[in-house]
Amino acid sequence: MMDGRCDALVLFGATGDLAHKKIFPALYSMVARGTLSEPVVGVALDAWDVAQLQARAKDGIAKAIGNVDEAVFAKLAALLRYVSGDYRNQATFDRLKDTLGSCRHPLYYLAIPPSMFEPVVQGLEQSGGSDGGRLMVEKPFGRDLQSARWLNRVLQIAFEEKSIFRIDHYLGKEAIQNLLYFRFANSFLEPIWNRNYVESVQITMAEDFGVQGRGRFYDEVGCIRDVIENHLLNILLLLAMEPPAGRSADDLIDEKVQVLKAIRTLTPADVVRGQFAGYLQEPGVAPASTVETFAAVRFFVDTWRWRDVPFFIRAGKCLPVHVTEVVVRLKRPPINVFDEIKDGHSNYVRFRIAPEMLIGIGARRKAAGDEMLGEQVELAAVDDDVGDMEPYERLIGDAMNGNAQLFTRRDASEIAWRIVGPVLDNKSPPAIYEPGTWGPAGASDALTPPNGWIDPEQ
Ligand code: BG6
Repeated sequence: MMDGRCDALVLFGATGDLAHKKIFPALYSMVARGTLSEPVVGVALDAWDVAQLQARAKDGIAKAIGNVDEAVFAKLAALLRYVSGDYRNQATFDRLKDTLGSCRHPLYYLAIPPSMFEPVVQGLEQSGGSDGGRLMVEKPFGRDLQSARWLNRVLQIAFEEKSIFRIDHYLGKEAIQNLLYFRFANSFLEPIWNRNYVESVQITMAEDFGVQGRGRFYDEVGCIRDVIENHLLNILLLLAMEPPAGRSADDLIDEKVQVLKAIRTLTPADVVRGQFAGYLQEPGVAPASTVETFAAVRFFVDTWRWRDVPFFIRAGKCLPVHVTEVVVRLKRPPINVFDEIKDGHSNYVRFRIAPEMLIGIGARRKAAGDEMLGEQVELAAVDDDVGDMEPYERLIGDAMNGNAQLFTRRDASEIAWRIVGPVLDNKSPPAIYEPGTWGPAGASDALTPPNGWIDPEQ
């Protein structure tokens, strides 16, 4: 195992979509900030030269951030190298080793489909490249418990756990970090943050667009695998965990794993599935696909703090708005001293993750007038997130430096699949919903939080 900073970044899948859209813009920002000066070696099958890789990188950066600063880009371009080759051919890894020269501690970033992890890890092992290196792997991390276990075994052929960094880009978001910070840097939440005061927790990830040309990928995955098993479950863990004993990566991850262990395995009664009308006509989608593009799921966390408090997660494509947020709703006052609370909201804490960062406290106040009648208000702290670090920049930097706090540990990567296992691959047709609605009407009534969902548009 190595400590300290990596001395090179090797990007498998360098000609792919993720590299183009997210990774090169992140590397550019790192160079601009002065946090990347190591060689970056792209690896892919395409018979490109380094000039083509530079052009592709520049195009991705321009699309992501608009104006490219030529001086910054020139620095990044000077760091780029390219190795073309088949991942199943050992000669590719030997060429990679030559290209890395005297670098002994690269970060190998697998931005490639999981089916390619095994040949790459074996190639690195056989070339001796894995010694002293780190490995960073993209989601999806398997399709179920069995495949996640298998993938973990594959990675550990050549890398020990401390050198493996499994990405969930959500954990690199500023707003998610803020959620964790807000919970444990303030004392006023703690007395109410439990089953005595919290009625329900609602997590919504709504996207007002469809599968955006990723039909083939999405149709093999579906909503639960795509965002619930990873991004949204991770948010749940941050909301439900106990304070970590210290600041080390393991201190934090240990507490998250404690929550994962306490989450009940889902049953079909905990899930409502939907599919937007028109999904079957998307390119790459099977003609009679039963894959869900919407799901509402109810979780229970069997700990002293949370027993019997329902945690609802709903996520979907083609919903009315583009927003990700959490609402922790408190129980109502035991007696209505003045008016009856009809809208069902009362007190809550809202954490909006996207499109803007917002922390809101929902409260009742007296409405102006003769009578003692109330109205709902929200005290909100909004951040326009201008200048925030993008998740990929933060996560690549952390992995280069060996900071594992925002990555998924082996045990967590497997327990999450245990939880959702029984509700995956449901072959019964999901209920159809119209694009622009909150999922299948009626079908989701059974899985509505007590006193309803809080509308992100309010
Ligand atoms: C990805 C999913 O992991 O996250 C996509 O595959 C989803 O389907 C995306 O749209 C959302 O991420 P973000 O950062 O844009 O909210």
